Amino acid sequence: MKTQYYTASSLDGFIADEENSLSWLLQFGELEDSSYSGFISSVGAIAMGSTTYEWILTHQINEQAQHQQRWVYEQPTWVFTTRVLPTVEGADIRFVKGDVRSVHQEMIEVVGNKNIWLMGGGDLVGQFHDHGLLDEVIVQIASVTLGSGASLLPRKIVTPPLKLLSAKVYGNAFAELHYEVSRSR
Ligand SMILES: NC(=O)c1ccc[n+]([C@@H]2O[C@H](COP(=O)([O-])OP(=O)(O)OC[C@H]3O[C@@H](n4cnc5c(N)ncnc54)[C@H](OP(=O)(O)O)[C@@H]3O)[C@@H](O)[C@H]2O)c1
Repeated sequence: MKTQYYTASSLDGFIADEENSLSWLLQFGELEDSSYSGFISSVGAIAMGSTTYEWILTHQINEQAQHQQRWVYEQPTWVFTTRVLPTVEGADIRFVKGDVRSVHQEMIEVVGNKNIWLMGGGDLVGQFHDHGLLDEVIVQIASVTLGSGASLLPRKIVTPPLKLLSAKVYGNAFAELHYEVSRSR
């Protein structure tokens, strides 16, 4: 069981622009032969922050959504928020707040030998890292810069550095970097 941060980023380290838009990413469409199908088949639980959840509601779930679809995640999903947010019919969504350690324990109890996907945002992933609960970072770096926005991982991770496990090229726009987070400090 691993706790993995799997996401896409701009070259300058942002996962969304200042308006929480992903149009810079969506312009590339569905990637052929991406790592996603292999990755998601090993995911047993998902965690995300409320901005990410509300992005999904606005862009995929709500009646006014441009690309309306059903909730696509079959795994139980923990959404971190201090507010009361709408749920999605038919989805296993659990709203939580506060210390990530107790939530991580709840997630471990359901995943079996599968992995935990930290979808983001970056600070929420940082909260897991602060408690030594982040095992891997897998990031698809798109060939764009945003200048500002939501940070990929707003933490200082210097010594020991992340260990690069692999670097793959997808088409002419993406490089996927797969890192292991060292536990020894
Ligand atoms: N590029 C990609 O592949 C990718 C992947 C994921 C997300 N994104 C995008 O990146 C952006 C990320 O937004 P973001 O940086 O604001 O991060 P976020 O983690 O999605 O949302 C942050 C919010 O979550 C809540 N939260 C975080 N930690 C909490 C805790 N411990 N307890 C209770 N609530 C907590 C707080 O909101 P409240 O308490 O006010 O609810 C906080 O303001 C979004 O636009 C998203 O769509 C992009």
